[in-house]
Amino acid sequence: MTRVFSGIKPTGHLTLGNYLGAMRQWAAVDQHQADALFCIVDLHGMTVDHDPARLRRLTRQAATLLLAAGLDPELCTVFVQSHVDEHTRLSYLMECVATDGEMRRMIQYKEKVASEAVRGRSVRLSLLTYPALMAADILAYGADEVPVGDDQAQHVELTRDLAVRFNQRYGHTFVVPKATVPKVAARVMNLQDPMSKMGKSDDSGPGVVYLLDEPEVIRKKIMRAVTDSGQEVVYDREERPGVANLLEILAACTGGNPESLATVHDSYGALKRATADAVLDVLGPVQARHKELCVDPGYVEEVLRHGAEKARAISRPIVDTAYRAIGLLPPG
Ligand code: TYM
Repeated sequence: MTRVFSGIKPTGHLTLGNYLGAMRQWAAVDQHQADALFCIVDLHGMTVDHDPARLRRLTRQAATLLLAAGLDPELCTVFVQSHVDEHTRLSYLMECVATDGEMRRMIQYKEKVASEAVRGRSVRLSLLTYPALMAADILAYGADEVPVGDDQAQHVELTRDLAVRFNQRYGHTFVVPKATVPKVAARVMNLQDPMSKMGKSDDSGPGVVYLLDEPEVIRKKIMRAVTDSGQEVVYDREERPGVANLLEILAACTGGNPESLATVHDSYGALKRATADAVLDVLGPVQARHKELCVDPGYVEEVLRHGAEKARAISRPIVDTAYRAIGLLPPG
């Protein structure tokens, strides 16, 4: 059976981008068709300035939202990265296989360094080594497929390179994984700045739809989305990025395709109304289920405890094999 692994970082409130680019596919397809593991990658949440209490709260909230979005612990494994030591054990080996040049070429790293440099600050070392930990996350489980949004494809590509290199140098150890990216909404853009990704760590609230925003807030954000001065609804990512983004969101929520939806709506106002309705239809049940789950935090904890046990049982032997292959003496 195909094994699938993916992760989500608890650095902010989860967004419509996370949902359409990743979570929805995990719940609707991956957990039914594969042996699937989904991880709240809290260690990755410490690569930028963080507040300990907030990290803990967001980790719990992300777990609750994954279940609310439809992940079923009977069908898949949901767990927290720091509960399974294999991630950090293997991450160090990945650092011994990767080069600093490879890490520095990662787009997310370059963007973050550039934005911090503007403020005259240096970044945490773990931000540079982030892709080594992400490679470890994936390779520790022998994952065949990694369902992610477009922005993570480069990290998965590096993971493939590291797996191939390790296998060539030290003998076949790792499955070489591939990224699977959704056909629509692989990169949901910020509603106020359609040239940038809708990101959870952005403070630009008006351009970001958070999964737990109140319905009227979601509607307002979509109705105020930046479009352009044109009149006609056409799907053109280059020339009309704002309108294209709305069409992609609508397509992802209704199962249509952006080109044909462009012919259905004859004004930007109509397109925005339809998009807001579609997003609310999709997020309504997620919000309702989230509310129910919050009443019983013990249930979520139990899911995570059991998930970590299952994750350990899979990753331990794979990481042990890698330790032996690279030349480390097994303990007694
Ligand atoms: P993260 O937490 O930024 O995002 C989680 C998932 O959501 C997708 N995503 C989006 N998709 C479409 N449009 C958007 N605007 C958007 N924003 C986010 C991301 O592509 C991702 O699939 N490094 C990863 C977490 C990670 C991971 C892993 C993923 C750590 N280890 C191993 C897969 C496998 C990250 O920061 O995702």
